Order: sequence, then structure tokens, then C-alpha cells
Amino acid sequence: MRILVLLGPPGAGKGTQAKRLERAYGIVQLSTGDMLRAAVASGSDLGREAKDVMDAGKLMPDAIMTEIISDRIEQPDCANGFILDGFPRTRAQAEALDALLDRKGLALDKVVELKVDEQALVERVSGRFACAKCGAGYHDKFQPPKQAGICDVCGSTEFIRRADDNAETVRARLSAYREQTAPILPYYRDKGVLVEVDGMADIDEVTRQIEHVLNG
Ligand code: AP5
Ligand code: MG
Repeated sequence: MRILVLLGPPGAGKGTQAKRLERAYGIVQLSTGDMLRAAVASGSDLGREAKDVMDAGKLMPDAIMTEIISDRIEQPDCANGFILDGFPRTRAQAEALDALLDRKGLALDKVVELKVDEQALVERVSGRFACAKCGAGYHDKFQPPKQAGICDVCGSTEFIRRADDNAETVRARLSAYREQTAPILPYYRDKGVLVEVDGMADIDEVTRQIEHVLNG
């Protein structure tokens, strides 16, 4: 069973790489951001709370996020392993994850830090869009659909952009990363599971680097 964490600021490429690894290794992507966006779309109580927090670029409470992940990893599709994309994001979440895995007799294989230059992130995030039907991710400049306006995966012609992908919210998300998430890097370094990958390389090269880490 493979259990992997992808860590990095907004736009580092966590979601892009998680989707590729999902296909290559048959392990499921668990994106807490996607789960919260689904809750927002459903109009649930959780979704209403999440909308305000996400629009402000802040973080949801640790207890709520830990419970979401704890329930999610019990699902049968996680039996082969999973890629955590967007969780943990605080020291408390990292410790809760360890406790959770420990109880199940599991442990993290690797924590991959996607190292990126902050200057590049605003361009990455502001050019991002996704297929409204199947969720496949694209970028105006770095990853356009093969045929303009048509999803490569499902052929849909409808695309969406995230509400939190504006310059002001991206700045708040970056501060949240610096202040609350980056401090968990030493926690994983001390445990000997942290690996740094150059997130500024092109998308295929980043995938190769992560696969090298996983196969090595
Ligand atoms: P979340 O959805 O996790 O957003 P994020 O961390 O800000 O990360 P992004 O999804 O923006 O970036 P990514 O690294 O996935 O980049 P991508 O691959 O798309 O969280 C959203 C919000 O939910 C948070 O702000 C918070 O409020 C809440 N939340 C979620 N989890 C939480 C938790 N655990 N606790 C508390 N709150 C939580 O790539 C970006 C773009 O760049 C794409 O267009 C892509 O095509 C392009 N690109 C990717 N890689 C490359 C490359 N190597 N070269 C060129 N372009 C590239
Ligand atoms: Mg993402």
C-alpha cells in the first residue's frame, strides 16, 4: 500500500501531479480542496462554511479536515493506497494524520515537497481552468486542451475557473501556506520521509522526478 503526501503552495502542481500518479500507480487522489468545492456546490452546511473560508484564502478548522480525511480513507477505493493533495496543512493535521495511520497499522511512504518560485505561482494559478464535466485540469499557457475549447478527456466544451483564483485571494493563500503549512516541512524532514522535487521543471519532468522517488 502506497501512501504519499504532496506538499506545496497554491499552484505548485499538487493536483496536476496527483492525477498523473493516480493513473500510473492505481492509487487514489484525495484532494481536500476538491472535497470542499464539492461541498460548496452541494449547498451543505459544511459547504456554506467552506465557501467563506476559501474565498478569504484562509484554512478550515483542523478538526473538520481531519474528520473528512479519516472517513475518506476508510472507503474501499483507498485499499491500494492514496495520494494526499492539500492535507495535512498544519502541524495539528500532520500529527492527527500520523495518529490515524498508526491506529490502522499504516505509515506514510514519502512526503514530496514541490519546490517552486513564488513569482511563477500567480501566473500558474490565474491561467488555470478545468473541464466542468470531468474535472480535467488545464492552463491557458502551460497545458491547453489539444483542440481549443474541447476537453481532451471527455469532449465537453464547458470549462470553469475557481472562485479563489484571483490575485488577492492567491496572496492570502500564499500567506496561509508560509505561516501554517511550511512549518510542517521540518516535522517530516525529522522523520526522514521528506523529499524535495523541483516543481519549476515542466510538468512531465516533475512527474518523472516523483516517479523516481517512488520507485527508488
Ligand atoms: P486547494 O484546492 O488544495 O488549493 P491550493 O493548495 O491553494 O492549491 P491549488 O489547487 O491552487 O494548486 P495545486 O498545487 O493543486 O496546482 P495545480 O496542479 O492545479 O485548497 C483550496 C482551499 O481549500 C484552501 O485555500 C483552504 O481554504 C481549503 N482547504 C483545503 N484543504 C484544507 C486543509 N487540509 N485544511 C484547511 N483548509 C483546507 O497547478 C496550477 C496550474 O499550474 C494548473 O493550471 C497547471 O496546469 C499548471 N501547472 C502545474 N504544474 C506545472 C508545471 N510544472 N509547469 C507549468 N505549469 C504547471
Ligand atoms: Mg489543487
